[in-house]
Amino acid sequence: MKHSVPPIAAEHLPVLLCAMPKAELHMHIEGSLEPELIFALAERNNVQLPYASVEALRAAYAFTDLQSFLDIYYAGASVLLHEQDFYDMARAYLDRAVADNVVHTEIFFDPQTHTERGVAMETVINGLYRACRDAEIEQGISASLILSFLRHLSEDSAMQTLEAALPLRDRFIGVGLDSSELGNPPEKFARVFARCKQLGLHLVAHAGEEGPPAYIWGALDVLGVERIDHGVQSEKDAQLMQRLVKEQIPLTVCPLSNLKLCVVSDLADHNLPRLLKAGLKVMINSDDPAYFGGYVNENYTQLFAATGMGAAEAYQLARNSLEASFASEAQKAQWIAQLDQTFAGFAA
Ligand code: ADE
Ligand code: ZN
Repeated sequence: MKHSVPPIAAEHLPVLLCAMPKAELHMHIEGSLEPELIFALAERNNVQLPYASVEALRAAYAFTDLQSFLDIYYAGASVLLHEQDFYDMARAYLDRAVADNVVHTEIFFDPQTHTERGVAMETVINGLYRACRDAEIEQGISASLILSFLRHLSEDSAMQTLEAALPLRDRFIGVGLDSSELGNPPEKFARVFARCKQLGLHLVAHAGEEGPPAYIWGALDVLGVERIDHGVQSEKDAQLMQRLVKEQIPLTVCPLSNLKLCVVSDLADHNLPRLLKAGLKVMINSDDPAYFGGYVNENYTQLFAATGMGAAEAYQLARNSLEASFASEAQKAQWIAQLDQTFAGFAA
């Protein structure tokens, strides 16, 4: 580990994991829609759902791969119609993030999921943005938005989406790339990412979740991304591993997502501890917490319980999350000081 951490008794670790300040850099706001809120919004908006009850919907959350999840995730998002719906969804997530001691979150949203159903771009962005600002004022959490393109759609559709969002350019800090990975390599989006770079937007992309290391190379070299979302397949390519270490490119790893989408068969076998040990800048995130069995602290506690990682790893992961964020250097230094204080408070 890069940093020395005061000795902390093993029995205090679960509390420390929850108490330590952290950033969440990989979560999809549509993936925070709990079944109860889906049903409440369906009723409010007169939307018919193909499930009889909250329990029936939850029972359908048995995924075999990424696509089997995405089909249900897009169906769940169909209840979002009005600005207040987007606001309520984001406030519900931000409440959970505050409870998990998340001091900063960079939230993905998928505008095409909504604009394709006739919802206006301003409705989506204004609802989410207002929720972020209100949570910042009322709860002290820092929150930004990242517009994510759906990679199963065309690059032309992504370009039109970008153009539609540009009047609201000051309300999101960057762009990402998500949805069905296999068969939709980063190269498909070279032109739209080049345009986003010109506009001064931060760039990230999902790569190496189910897809091969070649997609991670493509995201770095063709799209020019600053972080890789997931990236757990990088271990299959020694040269790529070397590069990720040398350039300290952050990987926003999501353990419970990998388990629920059968990327790993057992949390005890998750490669995050090995990636961390090899010197990669990895951290823990929740991806789609309403669908995968937990918010960010649940990801920390379950992965630590399954793998036996300790306080030194906890510190490094939280610190990585803060350092890899797109916040200012001065702001990051403040959060890292808070992190150090938390660890000092837990010292034996
Ligand atoms: N959209 C929401 N969650 C996703 C994931 N884990 N991978 C790709 N696209 C997503
Ligand atoms: Zn994701």
